[in-house]
Amino acid sequence: MKKRVLITGAGSGIGLQLVRDYAADGWQVVACGRDRSRLEQVLEGVDAELCLFDMENREQSARVLSAQGELDLVILNAGTCEYIDDALRFDAALFERVIRTNLIGTVNCLAPLLTRIKSGGRLALVGSSVTWLPLTRAEAYGASKAGLDYLARSLALDLSPRRIGVSLIRPGFVDTPLTRRNDFPMPGRIGVQQASRAIRRGLARGKAEIAFPFVFVQVLRLLSWLPRGLWLRLARRTLRSTR
Ligand SMILES: NC(=O)c1ccc[n+]([C@@H]2O[C@H](COP(=O)([O-])OP(=O)(O)OC[C@H]3O[C@@H](n4cnc5c(N)ncnc54)[C@H](OP(=O)(O)O)[C@@H]3O)[C@@H](O)[C@H]2O)c1
Repeated sequence: MKKRVLITGAGSGIGLQLVRDYAADGWQVVACGRDRSRLEQVLEGVDAELCLFDMENREQSARVLSAQGELDLVILNAGTCEYIDDALRFDAALFERVIRTNLIGTVNCLAPLLTRIKSGGRLALVGSSVTWLPLTRAEAYGASKAGLDYLARSLALDLSPRRIGVSLIRPGFVDTPLTRRNDFPMPGRIGVQQASRAIRRGLARGKAEIAFPFVFVQVLRLLSWLPRGLWLRLARRTLRSTR
């Protein structure tokens, strides 16, 4: 029996690469997105079933996803990023947009999908390495991903009696349409193939947290142990030198 995986955000970047790689590995793949023609175009020649919905629409997400059959693995990867450019004129609408996509959109997929995951199966949420330490302009993005961190850890407790594992995926910088919009240096940026390899290996091993690339993550971890005042001074100095 082929294993079955459902992946959101399949139209580009990390999600698209995961769809290609799982299909090539012989999995039955359900590729989710909200633009049929885009999915058909990028997935031409890839053996994947399409599943169309906007995850910000709770009713539509529930209707479409509850029609799914049993799944071995669900990867809730779809997300967005916008930055707060002026903290003094805090853009609450931008903050709401990012939270609505990354956190609420992900949560909208849970109820219809959790009952579809087989006992012994796994749910993976794509968070970010940003939550190790506060970064400039990342108030909205970081808060949305911090929400996913807690959600993943809490769900892991409540789903363990049902034998459903939970993994939190924490990428560093990956070269995708999302990061190509960034106007700042992105240390340690890796390609989508490398990201997909790290994610698939971590999920196959049943890891609770999958963070990559290794060196970048170790540096973030070390910096996160600094006293807050020291990190503030360091971050301010870096900001001054890049502006
Ligand atoms: N790239 C990085 O460096 C990096 C680092 C850390 C974490 N991540 C996370 O990794 C995930 C994938 O990002 P990526 O870099 O691969 O970006 P990407 O290429 O922009 O892919 C994001 C995907 O999410 C989909 N999406 C967004 N809003 C949606 C909605 N409301 N309903 C359904 N689909 C929606 C997009 O579809 P549309 O094209 O229709 O908008 C797109 O296919 C995100 O959660 C991101 O935060 C990325």
